[in-house]
Parts: sequence; C-alpha cells; structure tokens
Amino acid sequence: MDLQFATAFLAGIPMPVVVINDEGRIDSANAPALDMLGEGLVGRLYLTAFRQPALAATIDAALAGKHAGVSRFTQAGGQVFRVTVTPVAQGAICAFDDTSEQEQIGQMRRDFVANVSHELRSPLTALVGFIETLQGAARDDAMARTRFLEIMAREAGRMNRLVGDLLQLSRVEAQERVRPTVSVDLGAVLARVVSDLRPVSDAAQVEVRVSPVAGAMVLGDADQLVQVLTNLVENAIKYGGNGKVVRADLRTEARDPVLRCAAFRIDVSDQGDGIDAVHLPRLTERFYRVDTHRSREKGGTGLGLAIVKHIVSRHRGRLLITSERGVGSTFSVVLPAAETVKID
Ligand SMILES: Nc1ncnc2c1ncn2[C@@H]1O[C@H](COP(=O)(O)OP(=O)(O)OP(=O)(O)O)[C@@H](O)[C@H]1O
Ligand SMILES: [Mg+2]
Repeated sequence: MDLQFATAFLAGIPMPVVVINDEGRIDSANAPALDMLGEGLVGRLYLTAFRQPALAATIDAALAGKHAGVSRFTQAGGQVFRVTVTPVAQGAICAFDDTSEQEQIGQMRRDFVANVSHELRSPLTALVGFIETLQGAARDDAMARTRFLEIMAREAGRMNRLVGDLLQLSRVEAQERVRPTVSVDLGAVLARVVSDLRPVSDAAQVEVRVSPVAGAMVLGDADQLVQVLTNLVENAIKYGGNGKVVRADLRTEARDPVLRCAAFRIDVSDQGDGIDAVHLPRLTERFYRVDTHRSREKGGTGLGLAIVKHIVSRHRGRLLITSERGVGSTFSVVLPAAETVKID
C-alpha cells in the first residue's frame, strides 16, 4: 500500500486508528486518534503512547507472533474502548471502538435489576415471615391473625404498585417516539386529578388550590397526562407537609424559550421543607428518593417522577424542578399548545 493511499484510507475511518511499525513505533494515526491520544503521537513508541499493560501485551503479540487480538483501553476521563489489534505485513493496526455508552447501558441495566430485586425483596420477606408465623406460633391467635393479615395486605399492595409502575414505565418508554395526536383539555385533566385526589388531600388536611385556564388544548394522551399530574400533586401532598396548601396553577405562555412555541405551563407548588439542591438532578432517576424510609412509609416506589419524565418527553414538553429549603418545592410541566404542534 503506498503511503498516500494508506493516509487517505485512515482518514476515511471515523474511529481512532493507529498503525504501528515492526519496531514498535507509531507510523501513522488518523485525526480521531490524534484527538484522543494527542498531536505528538506519530513517531512515538507505542509503549509510551498507551501505558496499559493489557493493550501493550496484545500489540506485542501482534508484532512478534502475528496474532490478532482484542483488548481494552481506558482513557483518563473514563471513556472505554474496545481495541482490535490486527497484524499486517510490517507491523500492526489498532482500531479503537468507543464502548463507553454500551458499558454505561450495561451498568444501568444491572443497577436496575438490582434495584427491582431489592425493592421486591423487603415486602416479600415480610410476607413469608408472617405466613410462617400464622402457620405456627400465631395459628390460634385471632387478634394476631387480624393484625398480621393487615400488614400482609399492605405489603402485597406495595408489591402490586411496584409491578404496576414498572409495567407502566416500560410501556411509556416503548411509546416514547410515538407522538400523541388527540386534543386534550389540560384544565379539565387538572380539575379531575385534584378532585380524584380529594380523599388523599383531605386525609393529610392539605388544601389544593387550582387556578384553571379554559381551552388549554394540548396534543396528548389523557390517561398519561392524568398520571403526570396525579404524581406531582400527590407528591406535593405527601412530601409538602400536613395542614399546608398545595397550589396547582395552569397558565398560558405566549412563547416558551426552550420549546420555542406557545405552551401551557402547570406549576405544582408545595410549602414543604424543600429539597436540597444536590438531589434535584437525580429525582427523575428510577427508584431515587431523597428519604427512602419516609417515601416507603408513604407507600412510594420512587418510580413516579421517572414515569413523569418519560411521559412529558413523549409529549415534547419539559419538566422543571425548583426548590428552596424551608420554603417549598415547585414541579412544573410545560407542554406545547396544540395549535403549534405539527403532526408527523
Ligand atoms: N414535592 C416534593 N417535596 C419534597 N420531596 C419530593 C417532592 N416530590 C418528590 N420528592 C422526592 O422525590 C422522590 C421521588 O419521587 P417519586 O414521585 O419519583 O417517587 P415516590 O413518590 O417516592 O413514589 P411513587 O411516586 O412511585 O409513589 C420522593 O421519594 C421524594 O423524596
Ligand atoms: Mg410520587
């Protein structure tokens, strides 16, 4: 291969590629490789360029024994590459494939499975324990039976909610690219949610004040929008503190600066203790809770805001969270107004 052709060939490859000669020096490298490993790469010994023993051993085997091999290369920033090392006539070629995203997805999947198992295990352990007690020690104790069955019903309910939320989450994720096309009156959805939650707000002695707007039409999936607002209003009631006021204000925005179109915005505000700023970016992660114990006590699965985020994104909207310690939190949903949305 003449050098000019080889250089042009390398330049056409989008991934970092370096060619090492049989003396162990880097002969050529394409632009992505120079970006990654530094401009002074060509001419250096590969041993000083990649100081990672596993990769060096693979390159060594390719140069000395003409064995092809695959290795890993980790950059200081945490980027992970799968490196394919191929022996050629007078050296070896190393091609770097960025697998950081796959690794991250794999890690997320493992975390998710671990979280689900963990969340299911505690109610399940409780159920198994009470079943054993009812079969043994408490067999003839009518009072204990009633009390234990109550707890068992609560734990089974928790498992049921968890599985329901997981199914909901996977359904919403699967639909994320399917845009809703039905006109929905956001004000009517809000009024319905607040009225459906009346037993919850009454029990917590929370007054939910709504300021509705007539004709706030968005293209949406009514059931999913009910779910979004139910979670936000329910959270405000649950975490906003008993005996306080929760506001759910719907208003029109002539032009939302981020969505770049006319929009409707619902602000759900509570007067609770507020949330520390460190938690805010993580609230929409699955199973993330500020106070796990308190959330569990209130029957929460920690999936509510993850579902909200997916639904809002399916509706081309955005979710904003602001909070001040000692003052309260505001969860806002901004959705494009129906007349501005092109159906694709
Ligand atoms: N209004 C709020 N004030 C204070 N903390 C909140 C508020 N809303 C949410 N949080 C915190 O965010 C966490 C995640 O909320 P999310 O709705 O996802 O889960 P959850 O309410 O615990 O469970 P679920 O919604 O599945 O019943 C909550 O556990 C709570 O710690
Ligand atoms: Mg919730």
